Amino acid sequence: MRVLFVCLGNICRSPTAEGVFRRRLEERGLAGRVEVDSCGIGAWHVGKAPDPRAMEAAARRGVDLSALRARQLADGDFARFDYLLAMDHDNLAAIEARRPAECEAHVGLFLAFAGYHGRAVPDPYFGGESGFEEVLDLVEAAAGGLIAELEARLEPSS
Ligand code: 4NP
Repeated sequence: MRVLFVCLGNICRSPTAEGVFRRRLEERGLAGRVEVDSCGIGAWHVGKAPDPRAMEAAARRGVDLSALRARQLADGDFARFDYLLAMDHDNLAAIEARRPAECEAHVGLFLAFAGYHGRAVPDPYFGGESGFEEVLDLVEAAAGGLIAELEARLEPSS
């Protein structure tokens, strides 16, 4: 099973989702069975580490984002991933615009897995520290719902 988190720059929201979700998978013993990645719609920050504010906020919750590097959404992602999860409606529209007809992946808003239907993870880039805490709160809320869905879809390991 493969999950791709998508935001605009791949330096704030989607790396946070990737780091938080990877830790949740480790806690549930699923790290070897679910692959996680993140990317951005835009190319401005390709190759860069996450925003220092995102790294600091995540580190305060025990999540290390320092090894992550930004990349852009690629055509191959539509065949490679089972879930392409957007942080906001603009990201979702950009994914849908590039989605090939034959793509069978689940494409939607990540926060639907928190029961927050139609709600976005607000872009914290131009705001203050509190925006990064809100990103973490929302991502943590949705991570549990996504884990539950994946556990239901995965075969028992033995
Ligand atoms: P992200 O935040 O999409 O959560 O990574 C942003 C990062 C950079 C920019 C916008 C949003 N930017 O305009 O450079």
